[in-house]
Amino acid sequence: MPVKNIVLIGFMGTGKSSVGRRLAKVLGRRLIDTDRQIEAQEGMSIAAIFSEKGEPYFRALEAEMARSLGQESGCVIATGGGMALNPANLDALGGVRIVLTATPEAILKRTRRHADVRPLLRGSDPLSTIRKLLAEREEVYRRCADWVIDTSHLSIGGTVRRVQEKVIQIEANQTGSGDTHSG
Ligand code: S3P
Repeated sequence: MPVKNIVLIGFMGTGKSSVGRRLAKVLGRRLIDTDRQIEAQEGMSIAAIFSEKGEPYFRALEAEMARSLGQESGCVIATGGGMALNPANLDALGGVRIVLTATPEAILKRTRRHADVRPLLRGSDPLSTIRKLLAEREEVYRRCADWVIDTSHLSIGGTVRRVQEKVIQIEANQTGSGDTHSG
């Protein structure tokens, strides 16, 4: 049986890309970062895609990317923060779904460093924007998760270790109960 993909899901600044990179290295798996793939394919940054072509165009690219990645196996897939909002994307991606979360304050601290790359967090009050978007999305993230990991107080290495533990447990218990856990 092919090894399932590990799909990292969650809000901006929860560590999906950094954790994905480290996890892929530790496990000797291929990393696919959906935003980076889209940027390479389009020859422009996510910020430029949003401003020049608009968010619906980006969401269509994201959906197309999810469909094509469904063919892969054994990869670590770091998704963009909005990927999980479209249930068809998650169905297409398959795999073990690990949702990373963080407090609004931790998200602000992490995303501030690269404020210009996240078009949805532009504006004079990013903390309020983060709170509002999190409130809108929280339920979606929680419901799709095989496991939820709060990264607010974890290092990248600490999160990677948690993901590894959870993936081992989930794969061992794959009796199809469909329960969502957190910790
Ligand atoms: C988005 C998150 C971003 C990127 C785009 C939209 C979102 O990815 O896909 O700016 O809707 O949450 P990161 O989560 O990697 O920042």
